[in-house]
Amino acid sequence: MSLLAQLDPLKAEALAALAAATDLPALEHTKGALLGGDGKFTALMKQLGTLPKEERPAAGKAINAVKAELETALANRRSELEFKAALPKEPTDWTLPGRRRAVGKLHPLTQITDDIVKAFRKVGFAVADGPEIEDEYHCFDALNTPADHPARDSQDTFYLASDKRPLLRTHTSSVQIRVMQSQPPPIRIIVPGRVYRRDNADATHNPTFHQIEGLYVDRNVTVGDLKGTVEAVFKDVLGGDVKLRFRPHYFSYTEPSLEIDFTNALVKKLGKDWLEIAGCGMVHPQVFENVGYDPEVWTGWAFGFGIERIAMLRYGITDIRLFYENDVRFLRQF
Ligand code: DAH
Repeated sequence: MSLLAQLDPLKAEALAALAAATDLPALEHTKGALLGGDGKFTALMKQLGTLPKEERPAAGKAINAVKAELETALANRRSELEFKAALPKEPTDWTLPGRRRAVGKLHPLTQITDDIVKAFRKVGFAVADGPEIEDEYHCFDALNTPADHPARDSQDTFYLASDKRPLLRTHTSSVQIRVMQSQPPPIRIIVPGRVYRRDNADATHNPTFHQIEGLYVDRNVTVGDLKGTVEAVFKDVLGGDVKLRFRPHYFSYTEPSLEIDFTNALVKKLGKDWLEIAGCGMVHPQVFENVGYDPEVWTGWAFGFGIERIAMLRYGITDIRLFYENDVRFLRQF
């Protein structure tokens, strides 16, 4: 067969062989078999010298064109196979979180909420959630708060214009009711969340702030459990020198009701002996009746405290408004 007649079938064979190489070593092997010292294509080029002189230029040109084509095909196939070789061998879960946040950090209120939640989880509490737009039943009635109670006044509570009088929850206690309505006892939950009150903003007030509610319902639950749990968590979050004091108080949803005062080195530094930090008490039997729990069988305690207060104590902040201004000079310090 003449040299030129061999060229086309060899080209077709070579292109097929390059395409058939499924990894880089196979491709290098194919390259050698075609273009190496003993390669088929090299052999063809060697035959060039045997042609009559006048046929050599045209044949040489044809062979070089095919050679260039094969080299391009080889380079393309090589980059395809290199790409394939660089892909992960194992399936990859691209939704996994990164090891580090790429930019920014968590807001100090989020950081302290996470720490409080962690401290409660250690002693067996789960996190529950409820709506910020509430109704009067869950925010007040079911919590045994009478219709004429001042907290329900439109001077204190944000009511939304509507016949059913929805409102912005004034405390996370509404979630106690929602949780008890939706599951049987025993219950051990905390509820971090945003609450709203019609206050003007000043150094210690803001119309929206954050609370953590706690609810523990089981048989034979005592005030001793309440004190021990709250004390363990405050020590965990704010340090071992924390001291708590429980004073009698009144809430419509607990009986007895107590207020918790707090002190540590920082409180002393602020020139105070004690700071009011939380409300708590034993769940009122009427509240159990309202959610369909038998108060002869079940006992429980509940508490609620403000997250901003605790963050201010931890970080020595004296103006609550700093938390909401999103000034990076403030936020970068945490
Ligand atoms: N809801 C109260 C408040 O916003 C705090 C509170 C007091 C929560 C007593 C409770 C409780 O669960 O038992 O000031």
